[in-house]
Amino acid sequence: MTEQQLVDLLKDMTLEEKLGQLTQLDGSCFSGDGPVTGPEQELGIPSEKFPLAGSILSVTGADRIEQIRRICIEAQPHHIPPIFMADVINGYQTILPIPLALGCTFEEEAAKKTGDIMSREAAADGLHITFAPMVDLVKDARWGRVMESTGESACLNSRMAAAMVEGIQGTKENLDGHLGACTKHFAAYGAPTAGKEYNTVELSERSLREEYLQAYQAAVDAGSAMMMTSFNTLDRIPATGNEKVMRGILRDEMGFEGVLISDWNAIGELVFHHVAVDKKEAARQAITAGVDMDMMSGCYMSRMEELIRVGTVKEELVDESVLRILRLKNRLGLFERPNRVEKQPEFGKELLSEESRKAAREIAAKTMVLLKNEESFLPLDREEDIAFIGPYMEEKGILGAWSFFGDREKSVTVLEGIRSKNPSAQAKKGCGILNPGQTIYGFRFHETNEMTEEETAQSIQEAAEYAAAHKKVVLALGESALQTGEGGSRADITIPDVQKKLLDAVYAANSNLAVIVFAGRPLDIRNIREKAKSILYVWMPGTEGGNAIADILYGDSVPEGKLSMSLPYCVGQCPVFHNELWTGRHAEDGVAVENRFQSKYQDIPNAPLYPFGYGLSYTDFSYSAVELSRSQLKRGERLEAAVTVENTGRTAGAEVVQLYLTDECASVARPVRELKDYQKIHLQPGEKKRVVFTIEEDMLRFYDRDMNYVAEPGAFTVFIGTDSANDNAAVFWLEE
Ligand code: NOJ
Repeated sequence: MTEQQLVDLLKDMTLEEKLGQLTQLDGSCFSGDGPVTGPEQELGIPSEKFPLAGSILSVTGADRIEQIRRICIEAQPHHIPPIFMADVINGYQTILPIPLALGCTFEEEAAKKTGDIMSREAAADGLHITFAPMVDLVKDARWGRVMESTGESACLNSRMAAAMVEGIQGTKENLDGHLGACTKHFAAYGAPTAGKEYNTVELSERSLREEYLQAYQAAVDAGSAMMMTSFNTLDRIPATGNEKVMRGILRDEMGFEGVLISDWNAIGELVFHHVAVDKKEAARQAITAGVDMDMMSGCYMSRMEELIRVGTVKEELVDESVLRILRLKNRLGLFERPNRVEKQPEFGKELLSEESRKAAREIAAKTMVLLKNEESFLPLDREEDIAFIGPYMEEKGILGAWSFFGDREKSVTVLEGIRSKNPSAQAKKGCGILNPGQTIYGFRFHETNEMTEEETAQSIQEAAEYAAAHKKVVLALGESALQTGEGGSRADITIPDVQKKLLDAVYAANSNLAVIVFAGRPLDIRNIREKAKSILYVWMPGTEGGNAIADILYGDSVPEGKLSMSLPYCVGQCPVFHNELWTGRHAEDGVAVENRFQSKYQDIPNAPLYPFGYGLSYTDFSYSAVELSRSQLKRGERLEAAVTVENTGRTAGAEVVQLYLTDECASVARPVRELKDYQKIHLQPGEKKRVVFTIEEDMLRFYDRDMNYVAEPGAFTVFIGTDSANDNAAVFWLEE
């Protein structure tokens, strides 16, 4: 349709129809099998009006989508087709590694490919929009949703965000064969106080703008079709009713022109935040803030008519939002091709194809971080005598907390992956993932460890005996996927106690030990570091996880992942991140230990257990000193900072060359250092490469005392190296 046709359509619509377009309902509203209960009942919308909804969420499967689509278009006076949306976060059928793991690739191509695979699969099955990517910057490992972000760096997050949007949306303006992206959660959802889910966010405007907004901006610039509001408050005002943030920052400053949707019942929650007395006031605040679509609060459909009738809200505000939604439907081709599935010649073939599995395996291997490898314990020899032990050896639940559309039965376990290379390999479980009798409740299912204490003790003993009878041990441990994700905040971020017992018993029996760690967050793994010769951090690696792990264990893939979030020393250090600000009493670990009055703890170091950007390879890389093309920089000029990196080992490998900057003196406190650029290179044994970065004024900017975004003259230190703790530095000056 042309823009004029869309405007004409809007003019012809009744207010009720328009409010329907602004409403998104859950698929369960259409189950029709009994009285309306649960969240559907609280909507305050009579069930016969459900088909007026402009969008439906969480319905999957082409047939079911088509059924609901028909119900909707028949009931709607103008037969406007609904948009179907769902949380396709790191895969639809082919599940790829969780986003936090994806961040560890430092590779936009991997993010793009991930977005492309999940998007094509879900589009072929009838969906239109995914609630992804989540680009919220995260620093606190206690928060369960760190798994859904690409980590703690604005630089890395922004590049990953843009790549994900590009991958999800494909290259065609009409998104043909792909989904639209709904970037989330605007804004700063990733900074809940104390890492507690849905908690208040207290952030300075400076930090919000300098760090947190960057990735959303990158997603907007990459053309994200939609944006989702966040549940949290920002400066004490809930984001979903925050006009300054939504209209002021997101639309006016950042240039977002797409559809803005609330998070689930976030409009209704304005009442629970105690900033709106009732749902009517909540609806007023949200539409005033410019929230176009109401996900599952019913406030717009049930309360807006009255607000307009009494003149509290102008109908133009509603029209503005409806038009944006009609434009999106038009862009998706829903008017011409109401059911995109019928038009997909490749329907079905996309799902879990060999090609997607292959890509998932390659990407998963790139996400895994080798944290320790004493005595070159890894890679293993195919002939070696190894005891494979641990609850994750034969576990299928390695898809991550958000992958409920994927079939976990289709995933490759670690043992299956190992057996494809070493058919006689055997494994002993040792214990469950959770403590005996423990249950964790998830969104669609829950998980219980049915083993009793006695069975567990017996099983651990058998595992220890098994370990003692072999030369080497590989132990697969970790937290459960359900201990992460939404509602997955944890105050103790270690592996479950029962697994600690297993680790201790196995270690006592055979200390020639490597540990594979499954996690949705940076865990406190001090006990593992103490005992294991080698640690491979594999996150939640997805459908092909077991194959990718086996590839690394046997050296068919060489580890190249770099931590996208600092791995804390312990939970008391959280949040810990590479770009903390200078304080008046900055303390380096080990320096002036006798000085009490410094910014440090009495009982733990300041440094994380493993810093941001850290990760080993099976080969070694050496770095030359940093060479600068000039040491004085005039405004508008650029300088080049270069290093020569050499592969000094015996295996080909990839290295992420990372550039950090320190502003040595500024009008406001600045980060001790901050990632500003990176390049991934591949080197054959003995090969050298000169890696050149360009530094320009823009990279030196920050918000000064008057909130001007400027670069101030003075000295800057540039660090180029293998992780955020490198000390390969050079200094340059920005002139007046
Ligand atoms: C709530 C989550 O915060 C959001 O990320 C998700 O997309 C919606 N629920 C829909 O499932």
